[in-house]
Amino acid sequence: MTTIVTGGAGFIGSNYIYHMLAAHPGERIVCLDKLTYAGNLSTLAAAMENPDFRFVKADICDRDAVERLFDEEKPDVVVNFAAESHVDRSIDDPGVFLRTNVMGTATLMDACRRHGVKRFHQVGTDEVYGDLPLDRPDLLFTEQTPIRASSPYSASKAGADLLALAYHRTYGLPVTVSRCSNNYGPYQFPEKLIPLMIANALADKPLPVYGEGLNVRDWLYVEDHCRAIDLIVRGGRVGEVYNIGGHNEMRNIDIVKLICRELGKPESLIAHVADRKGHDRRYAIDPTKIHGELGWLPETKFADGIRKTIRWYLDNRGWWETIVSGEYRHYYEKMYGNR
Ligand code: NAD
Ligand code: DAU
Repeated sequence: MTTIVTGGAGFIGSNYIYHMLAAHPGERIVCLDKLTYAGNLSTLAAAMENPDFRFVKADICDRDAVERLFDEEKPDVVVNFAAESHVDRSIDDPGVFLRTNVMGTATLMDACRRHGVKRFHQVGTDEVYGDLPLDRPDLLFTEQTPIRASSPYSASKAGADLLALAYHRTYGLPVTVSRCSNNYGPYQFPEKLIPLMIANALADKPLPVYGEGLNVRDWLYVEDHCRAIDLIVRGGRVGEVYNIGGHNEMRNIDIVKLICRELGKPESLIAHVADRKGHDRRYAIDPTKIHGELGWLPETKFADGIRKTIRWYLDNRGWWETIVSGEYRHYYEKMYGNR
């Protein structure tokens, strides 16, 4: 069996590749990644040693390159992680989000149709459901919750999901879609909340909390997400959407204080800065469907996962220090300089 994993040089895609190589030895994994600012080939150094693995640098929007790769590899399965993934960047410049997240997904699915791929899995996000009020803890996102995206990022991801389901209905393409809550763990790019706070705290730099920090996210350790996708690809019903989340809601401010405590840093580093435009208040996933149909449950408790994650960033300083000392400095200055 051959699986093409797009976006495998990024955070979740790389964790998925390592999960697949360990869980299904002998299956071929081909990573297709454009290596944007968020893609990092050094993340895949250990995978490169594995004869079951191949890396190809290409853009999912490049029809010719995608076609060539499908001709060469004749994939059984395509799992699409490739995306522009950061909400703040989408607020600054939406265009590339539409190109990669919508057109790129369509380009991949056109190739899947031509080549009779047995499963196209679209990795989606809970952000397509918009947000929930802070004072209604009883409300959760189910697969029936209407699409109500808030940011250009989530709107582009909603477009990709709808297109995937439309390719199933119209052309019979065997599609599944998953929508996951916030992930954390090794190899997450330091623009995202948890690694940004770890990197800043270690450098005794201000910890920029948007607004009061009362927004709530539902955090899932990345390996639990990868196991869920693997289960959906092997046993999920085509044409279906599966929500993935671990009932682990946390306020941003509490996460930042926890990171301070774990690193022995003072909370006086916390700096409340201007809020994100259109900032979603709360995300919370109801994972009943994936639990009932596929037996999936998260295995990593947040207290353990966050310690493992902090340990990983301490043990792999070279990985993220290279990033934060490069082009990222310009991004950081633009995003946080006058905030
Ligand atoms: P990431 O930004 O860390 O990685 C994205 C990867 O895609 C990078 O390796 C990048 O080089 C590659 N890429 C970008 N544009 C490309 C293109 N045009 N062609 C080929 N490759 C391209 O993202 P992530 O956090 O790992 O997220 C992966 C997927 O999971 C995304 O689709 C995202 O929407 C979704 N998701 C993320 C989370 C989360 O918490 N991070 C939660 C739910 C869903
Ligand atoms: O819910 C799934 C989504 O989770 C994924 O689809 C996205 O790809 C992923 O980036 C993530 O989106 P968020 O916007 O929730 O993640 P982010 O890490 O950017 O922010 C988490 C929360 O922390 C959010 O409420 C904004 C806040 N925040 C973030 C940063 C970067 C801060 O307060 N300060 C910061 O510097």
